[in-house]
Amino acid sequence: MSSSVGTYPPQQGHAETDQELYQRFTNLVSSWPCFSSFFASQLYRHENGWHASLAPMVGTMVADACFTVRPSDIVVATLPKSGTTWIKALLYSTVHRREYPADSSDHPFNSLGPHECIKFFEYQLYTQNMIPDLNDLPDPRLFATHVPFVSLPRSVVLASSCKIVYVCRDPKDHLISLWSFANKFRIKEGLEPLSIEAAADFFCDGLTPFGPYWDHVLGYWRAHLAHPEQVLFFRYEEMSRDPAAHVRRLAEFVGHPFSMEEEEDGVVDAIVKLCSFDHMTGLEATKDGKTELVIGAVDNSSFFRRGVVADWKNHLSPEMAKKIDAITEAKFRGSGFPV
Ligand code: A3P
Repeated sequence: MSSSVGTYPPQQGHAETDQELYQRFTNLVSSWPCFSSFFASQLYRHENGWHASLAPMVGTMVADACFTVRPSDIVVATLPKSGTTWIKALLYSTVHRREYPADSSDHPFNSLGPHECIKFFEYQLYTQNMIPDLNDLPDPRLFATHVPFVSLPRSVVLASSCKIVYVCRDPKDHLISLWSFANKFRIKEGLEPLSIEAAADFFCDGLTPFGPYWDHVLGYWRAHLAHPEQVLFFRYEEMSRDPAAHVRRLAEFVGHPFSMEEEEDGVVDAIVKLCSFDHMTGLEATKDGKTELVIGAVDNSSFFRRGVVADWKNHLSPEMAKKIDAITEAKFRGSGFPV
C-alpha cells in the first residue's frame, strides 16, 4: 500500500447543499415531543417511535429522501455503544484485505479511526445541509447507521441484494457503556455527571439515542429472520467469545469468503488481531485522532473504554439489573430472540 493517508478511504465527490430540505425536516422534528436524556441535547421522538437529538434525526430523514443504494452496498447497523467501532474495523479490514493486508505496517488504521473508514449516514454524510455525491465511491461502498430498521433509508430496505450487518449487545452493558460515554461529555460541558440510577431510569423509559433498546434490536432481529441473506445478526458477547468465527461468517456474508490459502496464511487471525481492543487502543489514530461528527469533533479514544463482557456487574445494583432483565424478557417474549 503506497498511497498517502489523505487518499483512503476514497472520498465522496462534491456535496451539493439543500438548505430548504434540511429546514423542512428541522421544522418537522422540532414539532415532535422532546425529552431530557443522557447528553446535554434533548432527544426528540420520531413518529416511528425512536429517539435522537435534532441533527442526526434530520440527517436520517434527508438520507431517507436522498440516498440511492447500490446492490453491492454494505451497511453496518448498531445502537451506539454496542460494538460499532469494532464491527466497522472488522468489516473494513475484511473487505479491503487484499489492498491493505491486516499485518502490513502501514494499514489505514494507523492513521484513520474506523469511523473515518466507514461513515455514518446521519452523523457524517447527511449533515450541514449537504447532499453528498457518493457515486465516486468504489464497490462495495461501506456505510453505517444507528437508525432503527423501521427508519432506514427506504432504498436500503427495498434493495434486496444490499447487505446489512447488525450487532447487538447485552442491554445492561450497552447502558453502562452509554452512561460512561455520556458522562465524559457532560463533564467536558460543565454539567453534573449523571447518576447510574438516573441513567437506568432513562434507559428503562426508552429515552436513549436511537432507543428504545428493545425496539431497535427486535426490528433488526425480525428483519434477519425474514431475510437472513440480507441481514446478518451478531451479538457482541458472541463476537468476544470467538472473534475468528465471526470474521469468517462476516466475510462469507458480504461475498468475500476466505480461501484455503488465506486460511493457511493466518489471514483471519491477522484481522482479529488488528481489530482487537488491545491493538486498536495502542494506535496513534486512536490515541491522538479525532472523528468529525455532526455533534463536533470526537476523540477516537472515546470509542474505547474497557471492551469487556458483563462490566455492568461493577455498576448496576441487583435491583436495577433485575428490572432491566424483566423488561427484556417481557419485550422479547415470543420473538424467538434468545435472551
Ligand atoms: P465499553 O464501554 O463497555 O468498554 P461503540 O463502538 O458502538 O461506540 O461501542 C463502544 C463499546 O465497544 C465500548 O464498550 C468499547 O470499549 C467497545 N469496543 C470498542 N472497540 C472494541 C474492540 N476492538 N473490541 C471490543 N470492544 C470494543
